[in-house]
Amino acid sequence: MADGQGRFLETLSGRAVKTPPIWFMRQAGRYLPEYRAVRAKAGSFLDLCYAPELAAEVTLQPIRRYDLDAAILFADILLIPQALGQDVRFEKGEGPRLSPAFATAPEALPRFLDAAAKADLSRTLSPVYETVRLVRAGLARDKALIGFAGAPWTVATYMLAGRGVKDPSALRLFAYENEDDFARLMERLTSATADYLIEQGRAGVDAVQLFDSWASGLPEDFFRRWCLAPCEAIAERVKAALPGLPVIAFPRGAGPLYEAAARSPLFDAVGIDTGVPPLWAAERLSPQAVVQGNLDPLLVVRGGAPMLRAADAILDAFEGKPHVFNLGHGFVPQTPPEHVAELVAHIRERG
Ligand code: CP3
Repeated sequence: MADGQGRFLETLSGRAVKTPPIWFMRQAGRYLPEYRAVRAKAGSFLDLCYAPELAAEVTLQPIRRYDLDAAILFADILLIPQALGQDVRFEKGEGPRLSPAFATAPEALPRFLDAAAKADLSRTLSPVYETVRLVRAGLARDKALIGFAGAPWTVATYMLAGRGVKDPSALRLFAYENEDDFARLMERLTSATADYLIEQGRAGVDAVQLFDSWASGLPEDFFRRWCLAPCEAIAERVKAALPGLPVIAFPRGAGPLYEAAARSPLFDAVGIDTGVPPLWAAERLSPQAVVQGNLDPLLVVRGGAPMLRAADAILDAFEGKPHVFNLGHGFVPQTPPEHVAELVAHIRERG
């Protein structure tokens, strides 16, 4: 490595490096046998998130296996609703369940917000900061550790629906019809998320990513007000507390509104989803922001020539520009780990 800080942070500072840094969303997880072994020891998924030794171990597993340029903290975006006082569970094979689901119990929201205003976040979240310290201590200096949180809109969709929903349009209607309570919820999520990321930064993360996984299909005004503005407010607070800590925005599915995110001076990089044409992103986003992405995770299930061709097209599009190689969304559980190894070797050989 030419530079002690490593390829990932060098790229986030806006410099193009010869071989782009590589990390993958959901790089730790069920597709890895070593993850499943630790998970079996931990009990529930949330127990694993709050067990620093085990969470640090699974954070480091993909770095050991693939020598990636960055580790991402093992945790979940739904720790914030839990820290604010909502009941959060992961039922086996069913995904998250939160209660009360405020979209069907709107009368419960004001009382929840009164209590959430006083919630002591660190009571729930301090094990996460311990995980950060353990991982940072176990990671080479030229490898970065990425902290993260859900963006307020995405976290709000889970809090309102009580689960993941494919179509959040009923939640947008909730926001329109209950504007004051919704605004209060978004403000609380914004301040809690900023506090959470600042603590992750103090514990040792080198960059943070905001996952706005449900930013797709929104009207421009809604996107600007409830996706972009809260993420910018969070980034502003993070940077005021920890000058120089890079912030990556990932407004998945933002389409042409990606240009608004890329233009924001508060984001050091934007993560593009699978649906964004790499050449469009290189031309329209790269002049303003470092771009991260965006291989189709399903091509890594397929593996072989189709996967490598698509990776080449992405690398060609960003040639000479600062680019972080990643997926357009997370690995799926049926991903063969050997295909990931093949992909990483291919990118490094090209470099
Ligand atoms: O990327 C990583 O490797 C770091 C860890 C990480 C997890 N979740 C671990 C996890 C990160 C960054 C997340 C983010 C997250 N969590 C998002 C945003 C990114 C995205 O995928 O859009 C969202 C929406 C969540 C909420 C969440 N967590 C859901 C909907 C689920 C269930 C999905 C499923 O496949 O069952 C989770 C569980 C979860 N989070 C798992 C992991 C490894 C699987 C849990 C298990 O081991 O059973």
